[in-house]
Amino acid sequence: MANPRILNSKIANVTCGENVTIIEPSNIYGCELKKGVFVGPFVEIQKNSVIGARTKIQSHTFICEFVTIGEDCFIGHGVMFANDLFKDGKPDPNPDNWGRTVISNNVTIGSNATILPVNVCEGAVIGAGSVVTKDITEKGIYAGNPARKLRDLP
Ligand SMILES: CC(C)(COP(=O)(O)OP(=O)(O)OC[C@H]1O[C@@H](n2cnc3c(N)ncnc32)[C@H](O)[C@@H]1OP(=O)(O)O)[C@@H](O)C(=O)NCCC(=O)NCCS
Repeated sequence: MANPRILNSKIANVTCGENVTIIEPSNIYGCELKKGVFVGPFVEIQKNSVIGARTKIQSHTFICEFVTIGEDCFIGHGVMFANDLFKDGKPDPNPDNWGRTVISNNVTIGSNATILPVNVCEGAVIGAGSVVTKDITEKGIYAGNPARKLRDLP
């Protein structure tokens, strides 16, 4: 019987501001966490991503490469970011071809939402289980698959 190759999850090459909290086990590498960021357990944050000051990342969330999240955001449990859209019918090994995601300040994302490569404007709220396939450019509450605006927010 063969032995599997086992690699430990790690927190490596992370640029941190003051007062950052990370609950282990998490797998976080090559990214930047600004001051006051909180990261719950079982989170992966890949390289070339940036998390803004005071943003909270709840447990079981996956943040892929090339995701920028602003300040004072709340990313709920099990939120999935996906920047490789399988444009050629399969995973693309070249990160240069992947999309980019930018979440502005004060955005709230409900549990189990999936965020494809989009821009989300300041103050938007995304409901639990939503799939965001297009840019969100007006402040409001969005939900569903694909996510649509439910109502405006002041
Ligand atoms: C979207 C949300 C913010 C509510 O927004 P709201 O404007 O108050 O919406 P309402 O509750 O009035 O519902 C309006 C309609 O949207 C639907 N809806 C509400 N939330 C939805 C969701 N997440 N996905 C799909 N549809 C949803 C409702 O069923 C309702 O449909 P109907 O008009 O056909 O009856 C809320 O439902 C939500 O998903 N919150 C996230 C909670 C969460 O993940 N918390 C994390 C805790 S760690």
